Amino acid sequence: KIDGLKVACIGAGYVGGPTMAVIAMKCPTVTVTVLDISEERIAAWNDEDLDNLPVYEPGLAAVVAETRGRNLFFSTDVEGAVAAADIVFVSVNTPTKLHGVGKGRAADVKNLEACARTIARVSSSNKIIVEKSTVPIKTAETIRRVLEANKRPGCEFSVLSNPEFLAEGTAVDDLFEPSRVLIGGEDKPAGRTAVAQLAAVYNNWVARERIITTNLWSSELSKLVANAFLAQRISSINSISALCERTGADVSEVARAVGSDHRIGPNFLKASLGFGGSCFQKDILNLVYLAERFGLPEVAAYWEQVIAMNEWQKRRFAEGMVSSMFNSVSGKRIALLGFAFKKDTADVRETAAAYVSKFLLEERAHLRVYDPKVRLPAMLSELDYTCGVTPENCPDLATRFVSCASALEACDGADALAVMTEWDEFASIDFEAAFAAMRKPAFVFDGRNVLDHAKLRAIGFQVYVIGKPTSPSATVM
Ligand code: NAI
Repeated sequence: KIDGLKVACIGAGYVGGPTMAVIAMKCPTVTVTVLDISEERIAAWNDEDLDNLPVYEPGLAAVVAETRGRNLFFSTDVEGAVAAADIVFVSVNTPTKLHGVGKGRAADVKNLEACARTIARVSSSNKIIVEKSTVPIKTAETIRRVLEANKRPGCEFSVLSNPEFLAEGTAVDDLFEPSRVLIGGEDKPAGRTAVAQLAAVYNNWVARERIITTNLWSSELSKLVANAFLAQRISSINSISALCERTGADVSEVARAVGSDHRIGPNFLKASLGFGGSCFQKDILNLVYLAERFGLPEVAAYWEQVIAMNEWQKRRFAEGMVSSMFNSVSGKRIALLGFAFKKDTADVRETAAAYVSKFLLEERAHLRVYDPKVRLPAMLSELDYTCGVTPENCPDLATRFVSCASALEACDGADALAVMTEWDEFASIDFEAAFAAMRKPAFVFDGRNVLDHAKLRAIGFQVYVIGKPTSPSATVM
């Protein structure tokens, strides 16, 4: 049924790249072409050195090595590949609008609209168009109308919603064994045929019972709701972490006790300095905007609180660092361990580390940053894009925000080290050597609860952990 099928995907980003690579691997008789307007990105996907792929994901390089040039291709020829395709995925970015109506809340779907116009213009055969991007509910209707208004005579399109549930850092495993594949389509003969066609692609490696089919609007909304629920769990446990710090309860013990109830479950109950990433905040803001637009202010206020709690947690962590270090970090050196928004990715979009950096830079601290996968230009770009920190408005940024080649190098001469990202390798740092090289008292702020705190205290560190009692000699965070 799918032999010889031609698939194109517009958008070669964190979702388009890995998703299509896995489809190509699991469906060797399907030809997959991943497209982007960014020549740089496509060149990186085509780089012979697999270390230079634009997306770092464990296991991804092996999938690309197996498929690239066989039935997986990366190209900037959007028009040519779309014209030839039977199925066109659209996996472009849908950022929060920065201006106009819905500014700061609504998702901007202009990239999707542009893709729909291109598809209509270049197509002379029937196609299935698949929304892979996370979109506001009813976007499929926008795409359908743009296609209808611009298509060539005799050309038919079916629009499907197929949101992606992969998590960065585990994208390849998530794609190999998805918890579910969601496909939304129109309840008409053509819609049902299109749903069956896409389900057949996934069914090459995903069991039929894991492929959920719904109407278009349920599918679009489910993605926003899934992200809102996940983020809500983090904000919920983070709110409790503050209560733990005031009372002597330990948030890890509380999370374990609460999460053991099968109705609640243990996942996504880890307190931290706050969530980041390109999706949670954007998608909740989008949900809030939609609720307001549909006249449901109570629903909007409910979900908005998830974001407010996250902002508070990030600020609380950064303020706690300053107050613990005798209310001033001016001129002090602080090692930031990790900058990615989570481990096993080089993605820094909306990372809590950028927020903490901005706060500490305003307090005139000197930051030494080490991340196993993130390089200085990406850190500076995120500091600028999300936090507005630039060399123009931040005095001596180049000397006060420096990236280091190792954790120990970052700690050399530092007053404090702060864990921003839960990279596994941080647990095996030589903390005795770090302590010896740091100014005293030497502080540890574990924003991810990944270090051995008893051992650190035995070495002599003043240790602060989100949601845990502080060391006896330390003031309350
Ligand atoms: P991304 O920014 O990494 O990639 C999007 C790509 O689309 C960029 O390379 C951009 O150049 C390209 N693009 C934009 N407009 C284009 C056009 N008109 N023609 C050709 N190329 C165009 O974004 P990412 O992270 O892959 O996200 C894509 C969508 O998937 C978003 O809607 C996001 O919310 C959603 N999503 C993201 C997840 C993630 O973990 N990053 C997970 C699940 C969904």
